[in-house]
Amino acid sequence: MEKFVIHGGKELSGKVSISGAKNSALALMPATLLNSASNQIFNVPEVNDIFTMKKLLEQLGVVSDFKENKILLDTSNVSSQVAPYELVKKMRASIYVLGPLLAKYGYAKVSMPGGCAWGPRPINLHLEAMKKLGAEIELEEGYIIARSKKLIGTKIHFDIPSVGATGNTLMAATLAKGITLITNAAIEPEITQLSEFLVSMGAKINGIGTNILEIEGVDTLNGATITNISDRIEAGTILCAAAITKSNIKIEYPFFEHIEAIITKLEDAGCKILIDNDLIDINAKNISLKSIDVTTAVYPGFPTDMQAQWIALMSLAEGSCTVTDTIYLDRFAHVPELIRLGADIEIKNNSAVVRGKNQLKGAKVMSTDLRASASLVLAGLAAQGTTEVLRIYHLDRGYQKIENKLRSLGADIERVKTDEF
Ligand code: EPU
Repeated sequence: MEKFVIHGGKELSGKVSISGAKNSALALMPATLLNSASNQIFNVPEVNDIFTMKKLLEQLGVVSDFKENKILLDTSNVSSQVAPYELVKKMRASIYVLGPLLAKYGYAKVSMPGGCAWGPRPINLHLEAMKKLGAEIELEEGYIIARSKKLIGTKIHFDIPSVGATGNTLMAATLAKGITLITNAAIEPEITQLSEFLVSMGAKINGIGTNILEIEGVDTLNGATITNISDRIEAGTILCAAAITKSNIKIEYPFFEHIEAIITKLEDAGCKILIDNDLIDINAKNISLKSIDVTTAVYPGFPTDMQAQWIALMSLAEGSCTVTDTIYLDRFAHVPELIRLGADIEIKNNSAVVRGKNQLKGAKVMSTDLRASASLVLAGLAAQGTTEVLRIYHLDRGYQKIENKLRSLGADIERVKTDEF
């Protein structure tokens, strides 16, 4: 096992580049199952969820090569349509193989993802959409078994604009017969990027970037190449690292429009932010950080994946605020750990009431999920004394060696081996 040892209180300075987006790459990679060809994706982060998706695709017969943030995926010899429990239980995004396998091979057997660290995360919308496209779905021994001779285009309205269900349905519809209309589709940048990748394979999609997607099915798709977008959550996390340490840093991140909500909330909290082409300069030197309420929402709202980091930041702000998560009602496992560092936070239903303190004090804390780990690292950077963050394998699922980025900015953070669990 590994842990981070952080000696807090160091001011940060300098510039870092933001890595490729994990959640976008996790959709682009299985999309290649829709063709039988060679595909390339650039700017893919070297994080454990990507390694899990690579392993899953290899298990299906995809030949892959992943070096220097570029992944080659050759789908010419796919030989299995089974996504086993051993891989799916590691990562829920494995469900993304369902739509492509079903559409291309008429069959998919995918382990049901179980619960996750913050409660149930159903996949009913994915399954209902596949059924509407004409698939027969059975659940057997913990597996979803989906069959269809040929998917048939239809109208699908999502009651919730789910990112995963939109992605899965979009992929399936590209090879369905006729036209599929998805209304109340998710409009997250990851879905826009996926649509563009599918179009470059030869898919016919109208309404890209909007919540109404019209897909005209085609018979086959070609191999394609794409450069992945950068990770908006990593960008937001590093900006919060500057804010919580009252520092002035720059991030190289060419997609500022993807993080407008985060930038605006940081400005409301008192940070000065300048955007110059691909560079975002955040200056939090000598500011008194203000408490700012946040309610998470689907894009372009404030992302749930930044909720934990925002709570960490607000635990050192003046006054008090309420942080409400409307996407996941129970995603607060970081709160008891932040309280161990001296934060004053109370959970009321799906909200955290955060009363800012003048300082946090280092302690041992435990990661419980990816974004919770990020919030503990942020708190540790600002806390007095030494913070040890255990179970950082959660963090390694989605941040490419964040300690190197933070160290290059002047943080005192080290990854060390440990027997502690
Ligand atoms: N939902 C349903 N039924 C479904 C699908 C979703 O009720 O069939 C509900 C969920 O329970 C949730 C809401 O709809 O309340 C939104 O879930 P969504 O399907 O949009 O999430 P996802 O596709 O499973 C992706 C990201 C998550 C991120 C969410 C929300 C990937 C691989 N994962 O998950 O990322 O939190 O969108 O933005 O893209 C993370 O990176 O830390 C992470 C958890």
